[in-house]
Amino acid sequence: TRTAVVIPAAGRGVRLGPGAPKALRALNGTPMLIHAVRAMAASRSVSLVVVVAPPDGAAEVKSLLDAHALPERTDFLVVPGGESRQESVRLGLDALPPDHGVVLVHDAARPLVPVDTVDAVIEAVRDGARAVVPALPLADTVKEVEPAAGPGLPEPVVATPERARLRAVQTPQGFDRATLIRAHEEVTGDVTDDAGMVERLGVEVVAVPGHEEAFKVTRPLDLVLAEAVLARRRL
Ligand code: CTP
Ligand code: MG
Repeated sequence: TRTAVVIPAAGRGVRLGPGAPKALRALNGTPMLIHAVRAMAASRSVSLVVVVAPPDGAAEVKSLLDAHALPERTDFLVVPGGESRQESVRLGLDALPPDHGVVLVHDAARPLVPVDTVDAVIEAVRDGARAVVPALPLADTVKEVEPAAGPGLPEPVVATPERARLRAVQTPQGFDRATLIRAHEEVTGDVTDDAGMVERLGVEVVAVPGHEEAFKVTRPLDLVLAEAVLARRRL
């Protein structure tokens, strides 16, 4: 069965600070989105990539894709995104042609995920999982707090979940197409990842090993790390 990837890339990147939309910012001279598209198209299983562009940036994203060398075997579509990540993913799913049984959702903000991680997620779905997330153990202990009324105020700690049972979840997340589409049709409310929506359907989600280089570029320090990783790869 064929595999398509939806890349939500419509966010502003507020936490990165002022500038162009995050996905269009350069890492070692190449837009983050192009790195992310290449990371997906590097998998021989991926036949279609749907890029969800900033709402007013679809034309710019189309010309970026045309301007960069990308594998011939992969087709590309560009659609404008929405207000939330959830809405952007749904707009990407709406653009999918019917002949892809496996669908991945991958953040443009995770430009450096290795192809082996992409392939491992696809393989787990092909082997029968309906939803797959790449995940890593945590370095930090995590505490649940009662969020403070204002910035800088102390927050009472409520609980400390056992760290060994916690995982930090990355993308690409992989799905049986029908399951992901149903999740986006039926689940409402704030969910921060697609697998979380599938969990709300009562469908099992499984975790496979993620990769350190699949980290999300969120704050300015993450740009420094991303460029260092690229320099080590000599890209
Ligand atoms: N995203 C999207 N549409 C939105 C919001 C986010 O497609 N309305 C995408 C982002 O482009 C990113 C991914 O979802 O690739 C993960 O979101 P995040 O890292 O939070 O990016 P931003 O929302 O752009 O960043 P910030 O929250 O700091 O503004
Ligand atoms: Mg965001």
